[in-house]
Amino acid sequence: MPPKFYIKTFGCQQNLADSERIASYYLARGFRKARSIKIASEIVINTCMVRQSAEDRVTGFVKNIAKGKARRRPKIVITGCMAGMVARDGSGKYLSVLRKRMPEVDEFLPFEEVGFDYPALRNDLTHAWVPISNGCNNFCTYCVVPFTRGREISRPFEDIISEVKELAEKGCRQVTLLGQNVNSYGSDLVKSSKHHYRLPDGRIVRPVMVKHLGRYRIPTLFPYLLEEVCKIDGINTIKFLSSNPWDFSNELIDVIAKNPKIDRNIHLPVQSGDDKILKKMNRWYAQKEYLALVKKIKSKIKNAQISTDIIVGFPTETNKQFQNTVQLAKKVGFAYAYISKYSPRPNTAAVKAFKDNIPYAEKEHRFHMLDQLINHKGNLRSVVH
Ligand code: SAH
Ligand code: SF4
Ligand code: F3S
Repeated sequence: MPPKFYIKTFGCQQNLADSERIASYYLARGFRKARSIKIASEIVINTCMVRQSAEDRVTGFVKNIAKGKARRRPKIVITGCMAGMVARDGSGKYLSVLRKRMPEVDEFLPFEEVGFDYPALRNDLTHAWVPISNGCNNFCTYCVVPFTRGREISRPFEDIISEVKELAEKGCRQVTLLGQNVNSYGSDLVKSSKHHYRLPDGRIVRPVMVKHLGRYRIPTLFPYLLEEVCKIDGINTIKFLSSNPWDFSNELIDVIAKNPKIDRNIHLPVQSGDDKILKKMNRWYAQKEYLALVKKIKSKIKNAQISTDIIVGFPTETNKQFQNTVQLAKKVGFAYAYISKYSPRPNTAAVKAFKDNIPYAEKEHRFHMLDQLINHKGNLRSVVH
């Protein structure tokens, strides 16, 4: 009997997409998919560590498996962002923390060992997650992702287009293009800032000066990629996640405006509405610029709706600074927001520079206020989180 694997996925859509590739990696190694976790000989946990609570969920899950009454305990494999952190943390500190916390884990499998070359094994035939890049170069000071997924690596333009064409031929109608920052897609696809990029249709994209980076960079190939995906027959809805406001270009706005296949809900994480906090977060825009971008998007794209991510209780955030986020939320009228309480993350600049000085009760209070305002439209019904 061939061994059976079961994948449990935590975290964001990128992890969902990675799990589909990890599944075909296991099939290629002679495994079969277990219909239930109870009969698996190998359990692969695709992990998230964006906040401490995400890590705690993984730990709880591992403890539960280890408690299981099965005669032979299944092999426990950790992949995803925790394994990425283990592989990249040269000090070995994070590995020893995990070994102490979860001695039950048998193996750490970084996603790079699987990679994009394995085709995705998809259950849903009408909608597909399509990764366009992995990793992130932005280093927002609170965020662990650049340490777990590493530097941004873009998938080749043609590979993405041919994957979507193949999906369309098989009956897929909706795709969501995924990257930690889809807007910077392709900036690593040219050898140096002196080179240009030739699109599959022959058009040339030349580098531009990016002020805060202090160097020339390919502006972003994302609008061109989106345009190409829009041309694929059969695909009728295209979504993308996530977009950093600092490089949401005019070209991108034009491409969305022109193509009704592109979803009108635009996810534009703001994180904070206060300029000083944004600076401390290493987000390269101020409240005014964010509002100007929203105005431009709404004026050029009919029926555009903006959703967002916000962090409350970033170190040193005063009540007045929090109120600037409240004001911004009122001005934008977000469709919805994912609100997080700041959680100190290993290796990040924020954990090194600041004490996590906002009391938990205050973070809860700020969370609740914004949640009511944005997600319940000011309706003060009490909600349980
Ligand atoms: N690449 C995406 C975000 C990925 S992480 C982007 O830049 O938009 C998803 C969200 O988790 C972030 O937008 C942020 O709101 C939240 N987050 C990240 N690190 C966090 C931390 N240390 N504490 C609390 N929330 C955090
Ligand atoms: Fe994290 Fe910022 Fe990169 Fe998003 S853009 S993954 S928040 S470092
Ligand atoms: Fe979590 Fe990694 Fe996604 S830390 S949010 S699973 S990129």
